Amino acid sequence: MENHKCPACSGDRDIKRSTMAAYDAQWSSHDDAAASERRKRLAPIADPLISMVTPLSGKVVVDLGMGTGSLAFRAMELSQPARMVGVDFSTPGLRVARAVSRHSKFKDTDVELIKGDLEKLPLTRRSADVVISQATINLIPDKAAVFSEISRIAKSGARVAISDAFRTSRGREDGSWEQCIGGAITVTEFSTHALNAGLIILGQSDLTQTVRQLVSSKRWDWPEFIEHNMDYRVFMMMRS
Ligand SMILES: C[S@@+](CC[C@H](N)C(=O)[O-])C[C@H]1O[C@@H](n2cnc3c(N)ncnc32)[C@H](O)[C@@H]1O
Repeated sequence: MENHKCPACSGDRDIKRSTMAAYDAQWSSHDDAAASERRKRLAPIADPLISMVTPLSGKVVVDLGMGTGSLAFRAMELSQPARMVGVDFSTPGLRVARAVSRHSKFKDTDVELIKGDLEKLPLTRRSADVVISQATINLIPDKAAVFSEISRIAKSGARVAISDAFRTSRGREDGSWEQCIGGAITVTEFSTHALNAGLIILGQSDLTQTVRQLVSSKRWDWPEFIEHNMDYRVFMMMRS
């Protein structure tokens, strides 16, 4: 069940290229007002994740697959870290995130935005107190690489909170990579990657019904989540 390929793609490079093109197009049509609206709409899934890693004061937090920052800026609304580092490979996404970071309510946090691939993070070893990520890991072709990178950048004892869509036995096999279907793994596969990378799983929470409600009420444009009978969970982990 590992490394499910999008039928339209011939390899990881094509998956990444088409994923980047899809998000570049999506984020190009957003501005900081649209990003704030998305952040508000997705707060019901961001808040349970953030509660697993707060308080953030004095900490260096890294958001993997920041997009326009619906998780990172929500975290900063709830508990201000010393530094928020957002990594994404979409330039239009990071451009919108930069505009949001200039809002006066975020002025006390140093926001660093880095263009980079999550399989090869442009961050130094043992530099993060907290690593967070929302709805992104399923898009990464090499899951082992991203877990290994999380482990490399996290300090010993760092908290790692990741929420994502998961493949279930009730789902269909087809689906595009960009819609988070082709790359989704099972909860068991996710747990195995985490443990192999030296992450201790402290707990998890099932947010499937919350995501279904967001999709049904059109607050999250992701009909594939329901069509493919996916689960959505948030994992709380600690770097050993
Ligand atoms: C579904 S969006 C989630 C954005 C944000 N976390 C949120 O919840 O609003 C996934 C993000 O991951 C980014 N992404 C996907 N694959 C990536 C990769 N290999 N390296 C860096 N960023 C990637 C995309 O550009 C996109 O911004």
